[in-house]
Amino acid sequence: MIPVNEPVLDGNERKYLNECIDTGWISSEGPFIRQFEEKFAARVGRKHGVAVCNGSAALDAACAALSLGPGDEVIMPTFTIISCASAISRLGAVPVLIDCDPCTWNMDVSAVEARITERTKAIMAVHIYGLPVDMDPILALAAKHDLRVIEDAAEMIGQTYRDRPCGSLGDFSTFSFYPNKHVTTGEGGMIVTNDDELAEKCRNLRNLYMQARRRFVHEELGWNFRMTNLQAALGLAQLERLDEFVPRKRHIFDRYTALLADVSSLQLPVASTEYATNINWVYGVVIRDDFSFDADEAMRRLGERKIGTRPFFWPMHEQPVYRRMGMFEGESHPNAERIARRGFYLPSGLALTDEQLDRVSAAAHEVFA
Ligand SMILES: Cc1ncc(COP(=O)(O)O)c(C=O)c1O
Repeated sequence: MIPVNEPVLDGNERKYLNECIDTGWISSEGPFIRQFEEKFAARVGRKHGVAVCNGSAALDAACAALSLGPGDEVIMPTFTIISCASAISRLGAVPVLIDCDPCTWNMDVSAVEARITERTKAIMAVHIYGLPVDMDPILALAAKHDLRVIEDAAEMIGQTYRDRPCGSLGDFSTFSFYPNKHVTTGEGGMIVTNDDELAEKCRNLRNLYMQARRRFVHEELGWNFRMTNLQAALGLAQLERLDEFVPRKRHIFDRYTALLADVSSLQLPVASTEYATNINWVYGVVIRDDFSFDADEAMRRLGERKIGTRPFFWPMHEQPVYRRMGMFEGESHPNAERIARRGFYLPSGLALTDEQLDRVSAAAHEVFA
């Protein structure tokens, strides 16, 4: 089986992990945490990094740090992972959904202004699959309407938007270090910001709002979202290799695109826009409407040929949990609905060899003949 993802862990990972074990520093108080936070934040040009236990927790802490609550609205894409919407809705605030662009699969930024109301507090900009969302129009709208911007750069480690690092845009940005990311800590995440106050709030939120002087007396409710020293050790070793990983992933993208160019039933990912070159977090494909089967069937047939795949995100307005809560009733976002049903991604991990890419391509040619 060619797995949908396999990380590359042959740098200093083992050495740094051994250091944790040899020194006994395995909790969140170990020295790698601060080093990883500082180096990662510096890499994206931010003053503060707050390491947390995963990218979903990073979004939870970011939304809580903005003190979102009932009556507030946050504009976000419908085509994303549920962590984005749940970070908003768990606080009692309302996610206001925007459809995606049919080619880049990112939020259609031209539709954002029409959804701004007096209740809008923030825009959550989420970069999807390899290309950043067009940030400048979002930042301009935020400035015009006095809104906060949360940049979810979970999938965009090492990517830039108009030569500015993804993760450097908006009030703060969040990342995930799940093993399919360009830098992994197993499970992990980070919030980065230049805002001292927001950074301090995120640090407190991650640590149960414990106080320095009176540890077990709490003025606010937080979570235990702490990252361990073991995870930070991995992250540090991975970060050292990011400049090697980015071109490797771009090579995977280019080779797939060359190999699959003649499969006319597949819409391949956009290689570049005027503001970025695709970083290939995952190699997503969408089956054209006139082809006889959908993504589920394609993934089944590829699975029979020992090719691992993953479905695309399922839109937020079609999530059973939100429908049961009476949210998004009657909403339709046709681009997201279509790609959710006809889109999936191929093996995309850093460990993929050219020979494996050729095997994936041969299987795809058979399935889409
Ligand atoms: C855009 C986006 N945001 C948030 C997350 C959540 O990250 P995690 O899986 O680390 O909780 C992911 C996960 O892949 C993601 O793709």
